Amino acid sequence: MPAFAVSTPAQTYEAIVERGVLRRLREFIPPRAGKVFAVTTEDVWQWHGDLFTEGMAGREFELLWFPGGEERKRMSSVEAMAERMVELGGDRSSVVIAFGGGIVNDLGGFLAAIFMRGVPVIQAPTTLLAQVDAAVGGKTGANLTSGKNLVGAFHQPLAVLTDPGVLATLPEREYRAGVQEVIKCGIIRSPGLFELMHTCSKHVLTRDPEVVERMIAESVRIKCAVVSADERESGLRRILNFGHTIGHALEAETGYTHFLHGEAVGIGMIAAAHLSHLAGSLGSAARDEIIEAVERYGPFPDLTGIQVESVMGRLDKDKKAVQGTVHFVLVTRIGETEVVAGIEAAAVREAIRLALR
Ligand SMILES: NC(=O)c1ccc[n+]([C@@H]2O[C@H](COP(=O)([O-])OP(=O)(O)OC[C@H]3O[C@@H](n4cnc5c(N)ncnc54)[C@H](O)[C@@H]3O)[C@@H](O)[C@H]2O)c1
Repeated sequence: MPAFAVSTPAQTYEAIVERGVLRRLREFIPPRAGKVFAVTTEDVWQWHGDLFTEGMAGREFELLWFPGGEERKRMSSVEAMAERMVELGGDRSSVVIAFGGGIVNDLGGFLAAIFMRGVPVIQAPTTLLAQVDAAVGGKTGANLTSGKNLVGAFHQPLAVLTDPGVLATLPEREYRAGVQEVIKCGIIRSPGLFELMHTCSKHVLTRDPEVVERMIAESVRIKCAVVSADERESGLRRILNFGHTIGHALEAETGYTHFLHGEAVGIGMIAAAHLSHLAGSLGSAARDEIIEAVERYGPFPDLTGIQVESVMGRLDKDKKAVQGTVHFVLVTRIGETEVVAGIEAAAVREAIRLALR
């Protein structure tokens, strides 16, 4: 199965997409490492703890429990885990393994980034969204009351171990939310992947192992290439935000409980497709294809009552606004994008209105 290299000034490592790779977990722990700490949630451990333990092949480790939930993706959770690491004898030789969904990958990565000024982390993502996005690329962090992911660090892992087999237990809604990030990868960089999501939706939705592995591998390949070209998001990496600017505003506007992240990105991509068309970058046929692909993997939470003006107000607060200017990723054709600043507010307003209809 494929392995993709991520090469950044800080670190070069592999993202491996392989059924059963977690059975080889111990191979990825440096031989001279000290204590190993696994950050995980109870549900993931109940389903897949045996697999993890088998992969450790007798190597001792300590569990750091995270109760789960976006509302607990906070500095206080990281601090509590760091305290626990010290109590359990953690030191500069320790290694963290983040074993769970995107929240665990973000928090576990952040914990590793700041524990004793930084220890290595291995990312072992267990949701589709985390496998194709959150676990790859070294962005780690936590939420503030004022917004999502407003504190964090770039901390590239030793390796990303993606085992598509663990997705068998993922709830349907979480799975579909993750599919939206796969569609995003197709739209921004891979007409072939977009086509697969269009023509093989039955196989995608029944989690046909061969199709699932193909879509994860292609998404991870894209993410690795983009991160290698631009680790710090000063240029190319911004394209990964397609659909996210408005998606984040929707999540914030609804208190982070109404949408799953991938669902908000789905609606954000519909808005971005409308915006690309309104800005003259995208033809109507491609716009409709994008909307159809996104909607095929719904349903989405109820959109009634979400006010266009309130979403507009949230856009300026997005941390991706640079010196007060919101940048949008527009699609010019399937597989190609451009990043544009200074789009007229009326067009943005209309795109949001159309997406919320
Ligand atoms: N760092 C990045 O580049 C990046 C990119 C995208 C998203 N993110 C972050 O990722 C987070 C969302 O991640 P998510 O969608 O994975 O949500 P999540 O981490 O909350 O996981 C969803 C739920 O599924 C459970 N779960 C995980 N794996 C499972 C499995 N195999 N079987 C059964 N249940 C399982 C989790 O415990 C949780 O209850 C957000 O906080 C977002 O900001 C980060």
